[in-house]
Amino acid sequence: MAADKVFHSRSEGIPSEGVKDQYADGKAARVWKKFIGDSNERTQNYKNFLIGLLRKNGCESVLDIACGTGIDSMMLVEEGFKVVSVDASDKMLKHALKARWDRRKDPKYDEWIIEEANWETLPRDVSSFLPGKLFDAVICLGNSFAHLLDDDGDQRGQKMCLRNFAQCLKPGGLLFIDHRNYDAMINSGATPGHSIYYNCKYPVDIKTSVLVVRGKPELVTLDYCIDAGEHNEKSEFRLCYYPHTLKKFTSMLEEAFDARAKHEIYADFKPLNQVSTPGFYIHVMEKAKQ
Ligand SMILES: C[S@@+](CC[C@H](N)C(=O)[O-])C[C@H]1O[C@@H](n2cnc3c(N)ncnc32)[C@H](O)[C@@H]1O
Repeated sequence: MAADKVFHSRSEGIPSEGVKDQYADGKAARVWKKFIGDSNERTQNYKNFLIGLLRKNGCESVLDIACGTGIDSMMLVEEGFKVVSVDASDKMLKHALKARWDRRKDPKYDEWIIEEANWETLPRDVSSFLPGKLFDAVICLGNSFAHLLDDDGDQRGQKMCLRNFAQCLKPGGLLFIDHRNYDAMINSGATPGHSIYYNCKYPVDIKTSVLVVRGKPELVTLDYCIDAGEHNEKSEFRLCYYPHTLKKFTSMLEEAFDARAKHEIYADFKPLNQVSTPGFYIHVMEKAKQ
């Protein structure tokens, strides 16, 4: 991407070509669990929102396409959903695989499938281990999608991935996908320290940088500093995001579902008109029934 040519977006040691696994140095993966806690530390608002909508819509099978260390997936396994979890980062998946192994005596975890997959090739990757499988719901949460930068300058890669997500759903299935409130971050240059998803026990400082290339915000860099050690040890890692504006992201999503989906947008899990400056926008797309 243009921004990537003028700004060093990754920690040193992470290659710039091929799939950009921003978690490849393992730093974020190691500290992620401390950062977001375990599935019990997911906020009640988040659990109520996600599980409530899944149940209300009769969803049973869920594909978590940015499972990371597996925290959200485990929350769903615990609640009785049939979960398939994928991620492109083996450094993150390693933690999910270990979590499943640690719970191997619990029958709920027998059917939890964890595999490597990339959004760019998602339907093909999923059918390599579950041929022909379509899901009642696909989730891509925790500000994950914004990791996909814009290599071509016209967001074509992002649009292709959104079409891939729609393809993995049954007719009438739901896609849950979110992004931070980049409109506010671009304007203020700051990121809210608290998260709506988890109750982090440790002090987190997030330094925000917005890179504007030829008048257009193209990259947001968040430098996380988490005071997570017993001996005052600090963990630092850098993650980069494409700054999706609500308006543009809404239209990309609708295009990916051929303008035939029911689209609800939530602000911090509440109706859009109830929160003036939310930290996150959560989009729920219901794929057309036929
Ligand atoms: C912010 S983490 C979120 C993990 C989890 N959902 C959570 O809330 O804890 C984002 C995840 O997206 C994954 N990811 C980024 N780009 C991806 C891609 N192109 N295909 C598959 N996964 C990707 C990363 O590897 C990472 O584990």
